[in-house]
Amino acid sequence: MNLKIRQEQVDDYDLTEMVVKSAFANAEHSDQKEHLLVSRIRKSKGFIPKLSLVATDEDNNKILGHILLSKIKISKDNNESIESLTLAPVSVLPDYQNKGIGGLLITKALKEAKELGYNSVVVLGHPKYYPKFGFKIASLWGIKAPFEVPEEAFMAIELRENALNNASGIVEYPSVFFE
Ligand SMILES: CC(C)(COP(=O)(O)OP(=O)(O)OC[C@H]1O[C@@H](n2cnc3c(N)ncnc32)[C@H](O)[C@@H]1OP(=O)(O)O)[C@@H](O)C(=O)NCCC(=O)NCCS
Repeated sequence: MNLKIRQEQVDDYDLTEMVVKSAFANAEHSDQKEHLLVSRIRKSKGFIPKLSLVATDEDNNKILGHILLSKIKISKDNNESIESLTLAPVSVLPDYQNKGIGGLLITKALKEAKELGYNSVVVLGHPKYYPKFGFKIASLWGIKAPFEVPEEAFMAIELRENALNNASGIVEYPSVFFE
């Protein structure tokens, strides 16, 4: 396998969505509609093409995984809001899971987001997985989800030191997340 991480292109959309669908087919906490979420986010204002990445096997051009970071806001307790990103979703084809591809996608996406000038990322996900990449429980900064969620599953990472100091508030997801 000759793994490469690159920006997703429009020509990849159908294949990516099949990868996302297949990755979540047997996943816990899934509505099996994550591929539709990806499609809606791509058409929304919060979409950042440079932060939609695919992992490919260069030997056969097959897409093995995908990650998407898109724009959200944190509505602060003082009524101001700050821009942030959400990581949703990250997907690896079942036969290729546990080989480090998800980790590579996450690391690369966080690096790219930092280079583009974004300051933080929020994720709802497995509390044992995301801390490997530096995510911490969001409530440490007073950041809350806009829906019921186990506290330890709602996490955030600062891409710049102290970026989430004074970010105490509620995450606002665009409506495409709830359609
Ligand atoms: C979650 C996912 C993206 C991880 O990608 P991956 O390439 O399989 O993961 P990596 O090889 O980088 O990392 C493997 C590690 O993650 C752990 N891991 C994998 N999936 C996990 C999950 N859903 N929850 C908790 N831990 C998980 C493995 O146990 C392994 O741990 P170890 O390193 O301590 O042995 C992939 O398994 C996947 O697509 N799962 C189905 C979809 C999903 O649940 N997406 C995440 C929600 S947004």
